[in-house]
Amino acid sequence: METENNSLLTRRKFLAASALAGAGLVLAPRSLNATNAGVPSNRRSGEPINIGIVGVGAQGDVLLTSLKGIAEAGQIPFRLKAVCDIWPYALRASVRRQAAHATSGEGETAKNTSVHSYYSDVSGYGTIEDMLEKQKDLDAVFVATPDHWHAPNTIAALKAGKHVYCEKMMARTVEEARAMVRTAKETGKLLQIGHQRRSNPNYRFFFNVLLKRFQFLGRVTNANGQWNRGVPQSQDINMSAPLARQLKDDILKRAGFLTEGKSRAAAIHEFRNWRWFKAYSNGPISDLGAHQIDIFNWVFGRPRSVIAAGGNDYYSTARDDKGVPYKPREWYDNVMCIFDYDNIPGRPAGEVARAFYQVLTTTSNGGGYFETFMGDRASFKISESAANIKAFPEAAGKELFNFLVSQRLLTPGAPPPPAPSDGITDSRASAAPEGFDMASRLGQKYIHQFHIENFLQTIRGDPGVSLNCDGEHAFQSEAPIFRINEAVASGQMIKFTEADFAV
Ligand SMILES: NC(=O)c1ccc[n+]([C@@H]2O[C@H](COP(=O)([O-])OP(=O)(O)OC[C@H]3O[C@@H](n4cnc5c(N)ncnc54)[C@H](O)[C@@H]3O)[C@@H](O)[C@H]2O)c1
Repeated sequence: METENNSLLTRRKFLAASALAGAGLVLAPRSLNATNAGVPSNRRSGEPINIGIVGVGAQGDVLLTSLKGIAEAGQIPFRLKAVCDIWPYALRASVRRQAAHATSGEGETAKNTSVHSYYSDVSGYGTIEDMLEKQKDLDAVFVATPDHWHAPNTIAALKAGKHVYCEKMMARTVEEARAMVRTAKETGKLLQIGHQRRSNPNYRFFFNVLLKRFQFLGRVTNANGQWNRGVPQSQDINMSAPLARQLKDDILKRAGFLTEGKSRAAAIHEFRNWRWFKAYSNGPISDLGAHQIDIFNWVFGRPRSVIAAGGNDYYSTARDDKGVPYKPREWYDNVMCIFDYDNIPGRPAGEVARAFYQVLTTTSNGGGYFETFMGDRASFKISESAANIKAFPEAAGKELFNFLVSQRLLTPGAPPPPAPSDGITDSRASAAPEGFDMASRLGQKYIHQFHIENFLQTIRGDPGVSLNCDGEHAFQSEAPIFRINEAVASGQMIKFTEADFAV
């Protein structure tokens, strides 16, 4: 049985060991897929994969919903065996929901008449230690806790011989992320990081077919991306008194929220709003920015530098709609940054590209989140939200676009709106480009489903399948993201070196 002291000690030891770990192996530049040849599956072919999940808050629930989609499709047999959460309220609610899947025949199809069998034997646990001790039959563990628990949970599961799917960002610190990659190598177990766009068929079609095969953007010198979220979506999350009572002091202490000198009320607030606090997360630029910057790095490779600006611009002085000042937030609410790249895969050495990114938690302007890549043949705007996908040819790309339309790979979109008739426009201004659409390939699946399928298929050893975002490649992409806040704080350009990418 875990005690508060031994858990804190374990975490401290873990952090000390991570900090001591020097730079060792330097990874080769990333390829599209890592190979996982030789990774032993825990299961014999055809047997269901036994799954446990740690952290069943908002994202844990999304992963479970996606797993339900996989159960309904019936092509990758698994058994959900365990859910684990330190918060009894979240744990009980999740166990109840999974039990309901076991008894309702909901989701049954002609192909699969036994969705409920996927959920027939789910146990709930309050700690990962207890789960790993009692559920020796698990093959895979999903980790969807706040970021400061990613590394301890992932490492514990890998060492217990489980394959791990861990949410992004990989960890709270780059040292912790390194330790995760090393442990996956040492144990020979699979580690998939939850950058789910890398398995999204729309992104894969863009990357593999339009960009690589047809080079439809030409020479790309710029990208921009954003995640803008309005004030109503960036409110403090509160917890009712009865729910808060379920979080006993020992749970809050063990999980690192209640520390010496901190009030219980502050600990509860931080438990729900962990993204804004330095002990648990790196703030919006890492929490939201990780998604788009990962795609920049997928396309452009390792950046050579970053500059950034940001601050506690709004919530430090604003009041909410009841006139109450916001509780203090440690992390920047708005950040803008620019990455430079000069070693772009598939392009001649010395070609340079720049990518601008902003995370703004004070406005919903510009339609949420997306990435746009701008080349001399065309630009392409892509997002998880299929409505935000659009291609815009330049004059040099018109012929290729006609070909892509003839092949039904793109379709002409609605014509651009007529130019305004009033006012004097500069005759040198470029006309609004004509937009082309790309049919969404998501079908009826949840957007996280593809990435989880990729993980389960790799565990199963499906021929030709390997992880789309294994720990090593995720680390290459996340290493520069870990340093953006430092660039904001110092106001200096950060130049990356081999040591930043060394594991
Ligand atoms: N890939 C994506 O699109 C995506 C989207 C949202 C969140 N996320 C990631 O998912 C993770 C969770 O985010 P969230 O929004 O669900 O947070 P959340 O606060 O809603 O849920 C976190 C849950 O983890 C539990 N928890 C905390 N410490 C734990 C521990 N040591 N062991 C077990 N359970 C613990 C909490 O009680 C809570 O139920 C984060 O890393 C976040 O970055 C990914």
